[in-house]
Amino acid sequence: MWSESHLHEPAALRAVATPHAATPATKDPAMRDFLKIERLSKAYTPSKPVFADVSFGIDKGEFVCVIGHSGCGKTTILNVLAGLDSATSGNVFMDGREIGGPSLERGVVFQGHALMPWLTVRKNVAFAVESRWPDWGQAQVNEHVEKYVAMVGLSHAIDKKPSQLSGGMKQRVGIARAFAIAPKMLLLDEPFGALDALTRGTIQDELMAIVRQTQQTVFMITHDVDEAILLADRILLMSNGSDTPQGYVPGGIAEVVVNPLPRERTRASLHHLDGYYELRNRIVDFLVTRAHAH
Ligand SMILES: Nc1ncnc2c1ncn2[C@@H]1O[C@H](COP(=O)(O)OP(=O)(O)OP(=O)(O)O)[C@@H](O)[C@H]1O
Ligand SMILES: [Mg+2]
Repeated sequence: MWSESHLHEPAALRAVATPHAATPATKDPAMRDFLKIERLSKAYTPSKPVFADVSFGIDKGEFVCVIGHSGCGKTTILNVLAGLDSATSGNVFMDGREIGGPSLERGVVFQGHALMPWLTVRKNVAFAVESRWPDWGQAQVNEHVEKYVAMVGLSHAIDKKPSQLSGGMKQRVGIARAFAIAPKMLLLDEPFGALDALTRGTIQDELMAIVRQTQQTVFMITHDVDEAILLADRILLMSNGSDTPQGYVPGGIAEVVVNPLPRERTRASLHHLDGYYELRNRIVDFLVTRAHAH
């Protein structure tokens, strides 16, 4: 069981007071707020920002998931963190430096897989690996690429082009490519959305193992509540912007839920753990009744 205070944490208060029960890395103050997002807002229409005043931090080695309905701005935030889009106002810092553009320090898995259609699986992954380590020889690049392609179960398709792959296979190439460059931070936009349940489970396990081994810091968008509970140390619940009788209310981080379950949890054990159903109900309840202001 967990205390109520873990469950309702206004984003602005997140700074230092949060108990990070599930995140061993955060015991070290140097690991805190590796990624720092300050008062971010994005407006395509000035009077109706998609979201406003979004502030949160991610510690080194922490796994943070974002859950929210379609259109609340999850991908927009991820793109700003990736340096691919700019916010209307606010700032983002990684490792003390402001993010001003894309970098190989951040590995991104896009909601659409974003592969180069004219290149094979091998060459799509190799392109990223060669950019990351330009002085590597061909044999070293190949060995590295083959390891990550095998990790996502695609060795048999390594010399195929994206047009010859299913949606889930293409998504797995995107995952291999992001992991293969050993980034300081992984930004994952619904990376398992197009996968069948079995593959999804296998890759979730791989992701967990890699993240634990490498103390990888991860920001991941998912629509799957159980996936968030399995993987995340903290779950950000995002609300949609809505018209209310009092006027338009922009979307934002409505709640930050600290995952109280032991970090060694597995898919098979999840629903047997104390606190699992309470946690799950709280997230589902948010999505059903509180994700839109009214
Ligand atoms: N280039 C753009 N011009 C205008 N509006 C945009 C643009 N890109 C995104 N939007 C709007 O911003 C909002 C947030 O989009 P975003 O893609 O971030 O949502 P999301 O939370 O990732 O949704 P989903 O779960 O469907 O992927 C949506 O209402 C979308 O229509
Ligand atoms: Mg999206």
